[in-house]
Order: sequence, then structure tokens, then C-alpha cells
Amino acid sequence: MNTTLLRLVLGNFHNVLHFVLMSLLIGNSSALDSPVGVIERSANVILGNGTESATISCSLNTAAHTVNGNVWLRNGREMPDTEVNSSKHFMNYTVSNLMDAGVYTCVFKGPDQVNTTIIVQGPPVLSKHKRMYTSVYVGSKVQLHCVLGLHGFPPVSWSWMKLNGTAFDKIENQTHATVTRTDGHSVLLLHSVQLIDAGEYRCEARNSAGTAHFVQILRVHSMRAALWPFLAIVAEVLLLCSIIIGCEQLHKSRSEKQEELKEN
Ligand SMILES: *[C@@H]1O[C@H](CO)[C@@H](O)[C@H](O)[C@H]1NC(C)=O
Ligand SMILES: *[C@@H]1O[C@H](CO)[C@@H](O)[C@H](O)[C@H]1NC(C)=O
Ligand SMILES: *[C@@H]1O[C@H](CO)[C@@H](O)[C@H](O)[C@H]1NC(C)=O
Ligand SMILES: *[C@@H]1O[C@H](CO)[C@@H](O)[C@H](O)[C@H]1NC(C)=O
Ligand SMILES: *[C@@H]1O[C@H](CO)[C@@H](O)[C@H](O)[C@H]1NC(C)=O
Ligand SMILES: *[C@@H]1O[C@H](CO)[C@@H](O)[C@H](O)[C@H]1NC(C)=O
Repeated sequence: MNTTLLRLVLGNFHNVLHFVLMSLLIGNSSALDSPVGVIERSANVILGNGTESATISCSLNTAAHTVNGNVWLRNGREMPDTEVNSSKHFMNYTVSNLMDAGVYTCVFKGPDQVNTTIIVQGPPVLSKHKRMYTSVYVGSKVQLHCVLGLHGFPPVSWSWMKLNGTAFDKIENQTHATVTRTDGHSVLLLHSVQLIDAGEYRCEARNSAGTAHFVQILRVHSMRAALWPFLAIVAEVLLLCSIIIGCEQLHKSRSEKQEELKEN
């Protein structure tokens, strides 16, 4: 035990002595650093909830590392307006809009190019809906849509719910309801609408930065309800026709009588 400890202490002492001697000899400890720089970066950011902008930054803490340019990438794509031909070891960028959420990469260009990423999360925002009400007849097909205005980052997951009493119940794929989701757009398709399908539907787009939702109302009318106005119109037409025919006949018989009188 004791000999192991002694060896450890001596070993460490030897290492320290070696480092001190090398530093004294070279006169600059940075020459001992690894040729690849180490980047210190600002923390990941979550936008939204009142915060729509943030400044992110990277700093290359190895003075000896040769840098001949800086550039930022968003989602793997270079942002040309951030490109500078400088030897700066510090770079910052201000994300000024929810729209700009994504994965940011700071790149220090040079013979040994180095980079690191900072994640800026942002909540989704649904686009403004014009239609809040949809009216259909029993037995028809209906599609309810939800569209993202801002996609947010990371990508959202969609869900649809229906109001049942005071709570919204989640709608899963069923024989008569299908939910489809594409990038930035979700559709609830009801194949054959029944009276019981009438009510409030809520679509929800959710990611780790937030949730956006929209409620729309489906009104379902029975065929009989549709038939009544039609029958009323038919009845009205029939009534008008009979009145017209009646009048004409009256007129005809009167003039016939008058002619009979004249002949007599
Ligand atoms: C938004 O802010 C409120 C109060 O400032 C807080 O209670 C809530 O948890 C925040 N929501 C998110 C998603 O950060
Ligand atoms: C930086 O230098 C490269 C070539 O050395 C050149 O192509 C590029 O346009 C320069 N960029 C800027 C922003 O000056
Ligand atoms: C970002 O960089 C600019 C110029 O390089 C500097 O003026 C500004 O203070 C920096 N901002 C932060 C938050 O570090
Ligand atoms: C970032 O660094 C990795 C290795 O750490 C490298 O594979 C990649 O090409 C670099 N990307 C850029 C844009 O410099
Ligand atoms: C509505 O809620 C009640 C009670 O919470 C439940 O028993 C019923 O199955 C729900 N209806 C539908 C269509 O989910
Ligand atoms: C629901 O069904 C549709 C069509 O069959 C399919 O595209 C979709 O991925 C399904 N959704 C789920 C959550 O299973």
C-alpha cells in the first residue's frame, strides 16, 4: 500500500517537474497546448414565452490556434452575411426572431478548422385561421385543417382532440377518423359524418419549446333538415301554379259567359 502511494506521489511530482521545466525552457505554456483549439460556447436557448431574441457566442480559448475566418451555420447551411475574414477568437450572433430557431454552428476557419453547435429552440405558431366553423350534412366527408405559420424547432408533433363534456379527448386513427401529418400541416378526416360528430375540435402542435392550438367547430345537419326548405319551395311553387291556373280558368269561364250573353 505504502509503496504504491509513494510511487504515485513521486510519479506526479515527476510530471509536475517536467511541465515546469518545459514551460521555463519554452517560455510560453501555450506551445504545450494541443494544436486543436477548445471552444467555449454559450448555453442552449429556448425562445418564446416573452423572449423572442437571444445572443449566442463562441470563444476559442487557445491563443495559438490559427484562425483566418469566422462564419455561422444555421441547420447546417452557411449564413453568408455572418462570414468575416478575421483572426478573431470570439464570435457572437443575435437570433432576433422566433422564426430563426434552429441548430447554430460557429466555425473558426483555418488550417485546423474547429466548430461547435448551439441549439436555439423555438415554439410553433399556427397560422391565422379564417374558418372557425364547418357545416356538413350527415353521411358526407369532412376535412379539418391545421397549418403552422412558424414551424418552431425541434419539429412538432401533432394531435387532435374533441370536446367531450368539459374535457378534450384525444382522437386516434379509427375506422371513421384519420389523422394525417405532414411537415407543417395536419388534417383530421372524418369519412362519414354522423350527428354525434358535431362539436368542438382542437388541434395541437407541440415541441419542447411550447404548444400552439386552435379550436374549430363542426356543425352537422341531418338530411331531413336539408329536405324541409326544399319541400317548402316545392309547396310554394305548387300553390302558385294552382292559383295561376285557377285564375286563368276563372277568367276563361267569365269571358265565355260574356260571349254567350252577347250571342244571346
Ligand atoms: C412561461 O412563463 C411562465 C411565467 O413566466 C412560466 O410559469 C411558464 O412555465 C413558462 N412556460 C414555458 C414553456 O417556459
Ligand atoms: C474572405 O476571403 C476569401 C478568400 O481569401 C474570399 O473569397 C472571400 O470573399 C472573403 N470574404 C469576405 C467577407 O471578405
Ligand atoms: C458581439 O460582438 C460585437 C462585435 O464583435 C460586440 O460589439 C458585442 O458587444 C458582442 N455582444 C456580446 C453580447 O458579446
Ligand atoms: C465541424 O467539426 C466536425 C468535426 O469535429 C467536422 O466533421 C465538420 O466538417 C465541421 N464542420 C464545419 C462546417 O466546419
Ligand atoms: C366522454 O366522456 C365520458 C366520461 O368521461 C366517457 O365515458 C365517454 O366514453 C366519452 N365519450 C367519448 C366519445 O369519448
Ligand atoms: C393514420 O392513418 C393514416 C392513413 O392510413 C396514416 O397516413 C397515418 O400515418 C396514421 N396515423 C397514425 C398516428 O397512425
